[in-house]
Amino acid sequence: MNCYLSTSAATHDEVATLDFETVNIFLASSNSGKLREYSELANGSALTIALLPNFTELPPFEECAATFAENAAGKALHYSRFAHEIVLADDSGLVVPALSGAPGVHSARYAGPNGTARDCVQKLLGQMEGKQGTERRARFVCVIAVARQGSILAVVSDFVEGILANEARGAEGFGYDPIFCFPDGSRTFAEISPVEKNRYSHRGKAFRKLAEFLNSLASPLGSATSNSTV
Ligand code: IMP
Repeated sequence: MNCYLSTSAATHDEVATLDFETVNIFLASSNSGKLREYSELANGSALTIALLPNFTELPPFEECAATFAENAAGKALHYSRFAHEIVLADDSGLVVPALSGAPGVHSARYAGPNGTARDCVQKLLGQMEGKQGTERRARFVCVIAVARQGSILAVVSDFVEGILANEARGAEGFGYDPIFCFPDGSRTFAEISPVEKNRYSHRGKAFRKLAEFLNSLASPLGSATSNSTV
């Protein structure tokens, strides 16, 4: 089956074709937690996800923009210049309205350049001390950009709302999962299986939009070519 992919620079008539039997996508990330989740999400679909070869040896992309979208798109464009396949990059993080949006785009480095995920969690718990009820609301955000050889193919985003626990709980997941609870406070994302997390998470929801977009492009009429950016 052929899939028609419209690129950011392409007009409606200028579409690139893909062999849609399987679409190999390279993930531009050194985060093994993300790779696990994307591999699981792609399981059973026409999409296969693998780490971008030699990712750690490539010139790094500096994620210094103020928005998740700019960072994701910039990262995807940058790394797509080093591969023939489609490159997927995401920028994601935890947004806490009571902390004016922090840690936000700085989620990975919230505890400084050498801080661990545990350090980030501890710092955030410290910032949340004394905050109760709705002040503990938080939102995981994920923006996914896919690019091929210097052109953006699609940008999708989604989020999931929850509340911050008073202490870390659970051993699954990564990053802030041990303190991110379902809105009823029952379980943290580190207390649920990877499959269940993907069902509810910002990354799972955004990825399903991306998969839907790619699949819609495989329709005989190519009906989605006028909507390349979701
Ligand atoms: P990025 O690699 O710049 O997108 O960094 C995202 C950072 O946000 C991660 O290092 C985590 O700290 C946090 N983060 C994003 N998504 C998740 C998630 O699903 N669970 C827990 N933490 C997350």
